Amino acid sequence: MKRIGVLTSGGDAPGMNAALRAVVRTAVYMGVEVYGIYEGYRGLLDGNIKELNVASVADIIQRGGTALRSARCAEFHTSEGIQKGIDMLKVFKIEGLVVLGGDGTYRGAMELAKRGVPVVGIPCTIDNDMGYTEFTVGFFTAVETVIEAIGKIRDTSSSHGRGNIIEVMGRRCGDIALYAGLSGGAENIIIPEEPFNVNEMIERTIRGRNRGKIHNIVLLTEGVANAYEVAETLEERTGVDFRVTILGHIQRGGSPSAFDRVIASQMGYHAVDYLVKHPEAQTALGIQGGQIVYTGMLEAVSRKKEISEDIYTIAQVLSI
Ligand code: F6P
Repeated sequence: MKRIGVLTSGGDAPGMNAALRAVVRTAVYMGVEVYGIYEGYRGLLDGNIKELNVASVADIIQRGGTALRSARCAEFHTSEGIQKGIDMLKVFKIEGLVVLGGDGTYRGAMELAKRGVPVVGIPCTIDNDMGYTEFTVGFFTAVETVIEAIGKIRDTSSSHGRGNIIEVMGRRCGDIALYAGLSGGAENIIIPEEPFNVNEMIERTIRGRNRGKIHNIVLLTEGVANAYEVAETLEERTGVDFRVTILGHIQRGGSPSAFDRVIASQMGYHAVDYLVKHPEAQTALGIQGGQIVYTGMLEAVSRKKEISEDIYTIAQVLSI
């Protein structure tokens, strides 16, 4: 393989730049030309494609976001759109692709693979919602952002003797709430994978108050319940004053954590190494028990994500 392309697509994630840097530098090291496709599949269709070199990815390892930018592209969901993408790869003589993103990015890559383009995926999303890999690039940075917010909210919460509902992202996955809840010492962690039980939240709040606790942090995954309605119910039933903070897109930005930089670099390196050696690749990289693992892309998008029962149980036990 003489020339490969790389793109970032879907919601950005801290560490995408570290992965991009690793892809570009590994390709250069191996004597393979590497082209950056800007703005995801949109840029592929528009031919927004430029050659990258070692210097193109200098000074980005520490940056959040994606230097290649990202976009959503409805046209790429049509068979004409996919054919246009294939044609554009031919115009630029790109023989294989490394894609950085989540589920949607992988589905797009699979369409290209079905038409003969070798593809390798690197899982980049703050949601950690991909069942085939223990962790995705960006997840732990988002968790760090949330625990920083918990610390600040806890300060004011304690001063006023209040409760706080902090709504976090995750789409349909509770991992951000779960890991941030455990490491931030939240009293209640509400995730889509477990039944929503307001009575249990009330009991925990009252139990805490009776023990002299002056704060109460509830981590609520977006989409499970309306944060303001939950706050109202808790206020009515416990007599504790509750406030709501919706963290939103702050969780998607920021300098990637050391862990995210490390796995991004590992996966960027192995993605290129695998792609050049496997011209039939339709493969997603992941991490399991500290090791890089290779999974068929179809299986990667089909494998159901399950939460860690161990982490959930420990979080419940420690927040009695
Ligand atoms: O997938 C990442 C994510 O930040 C989710 O947690 C969230 O539900 C969604 O993207 C928000 O998407 P957008 O940035 O398009 O509003």
